[in-house]
Amino acid sequence: MTAVVEATALEKRYGETVALSGASLSIPAGEVFGLIGPNGAGKTTLVRALTGTTEPDAGTATVLGESPTAIDRDRLGVLPQDFSPPDRLTARELLAYYAGLYDNPRDPDAVLAAVGLADAGDTWYEDLSGGQQRRVCVGSTLVNDPDVLFLDEPTTGIDPAGRRTVWRLIEELAAGGTTVLLTTHNMAEAERLADRVGLLADGSLIAQGTPDALVAEYGGSSRLEIETAADPDTLVELEYSVERAQRRTHTAADDTVSSGVEDTLVVRDIDPAAIGAVVDALERQGLEYTGLSWTEPDLEDVYLELADRMERERTGGAGESGEKKPDDETTTDLTQTGETA
Ligand SMILES: Nc1ncnc2c1ncn2[C@@H]1O[C@H](COP(=O)(O)OP(=O)(O)OP(=O)(O)O)[C@@H](O)[C@H]1O
Ligand SMILES: [Mg+2]
Repeated sequence: MTAVVEATALEKRYGETVALSGASLSIPAGEVFGLIGPNGAGKTTLVRALTGTTEPDAGTATVLGESPTAIDRDRLGVLPQDFSPPDRLTARELLAYYAGLYDNPRDPDAVLAAVGLADAGDTWYEDLSGGQQRRVCVGSTLVNDPDVLFLDEPTTGIDPAGRRTVWRLIEELAAGGTTVLLTTHNMAEAERLADRVGLLADGSLIAQGTPDALVAEYGGSSRLEIETAADPDTLVELEYSVERAQRRTHTAADDTVSSGVEDTLVVRDIDPAAIGAVVDALERQGLEYTGLSWTEPDLEDVYLELADRMERERTGGAGESGEKKPDDETTTDLTQTGETA
């Protein structure tokens, strides 16, 4: 399938600063691609190179088969990270202003409703809250019903309910076939919206894949955490108790029980079916616990693990967490293992 968005070995320097160093990605039609990475990694520069607002020093970028500066703007929607629209317009006037730039624009009121601001049409843009302004800005990228949408941190500053409105909107657009590249620092957003996620670090994509594939590769194991206010002896009893409960439920042999940090017992890779047995055992033996939580690894764990590896590479020593996993790699492309690849 021909890629709708394609970057090949893009390079960009600002003086001594290297913003992009060999960034490559390929987004097929209808895919939502989530670009994540630390502040200064080059996400905005990559979006700018793909939308024709930054000229790369080397490499090629194409959108819908065209050079970004040549693409038919009716087919493109772009939300810059630092978008600031003209002053002294109401929300409706602002959308009408952008709609006026296109041949077959959408109705501004329909767009306002889509971003959850149906009642704000007559409000001056400058009188809207920051998150409401951001939603109008998202709306301004939709007035031409684009085929390809670049959203640089679309939900930054938007409250949780408004964020979900924007998420549903992006999901609807994706269901309608729109190709979307979005950047975000919100891992839940990337996990929910993106068919594939790419992690940009120091100007290049160091990992790409479906959220599931990335989590399986870098996310580590699930964790059952049992907090207890107990003394070390009780912690040991707790540990035995968990081990016995796991044996009884025939939990896989590679399950491990690690000793607690302070008063927390961390059980990795436990079969979820065994959790009930563990709780029963604790109750039966009258072992008091103050907290019990089970977490599965997610994209945030992936991000932290890869950021940690980058940091270790840079410093040649321990990263922030100090934890070192055996399969230490710095560059992996999981695209081939991804479901949508
Ligand atoms: N116009 C510019 N002039 C000089 N340096 C720039 C310019 N634009 C970006 N940079 C530098 O390039 C690097 C990448 O910046 P970029 O804005 O692409 O990062 P980012 O991943 O979008 O970060 P954030 O998550 O903070 O938005 C940074 O070191 C930044 O200081
Ligand atoms: Mg940015």
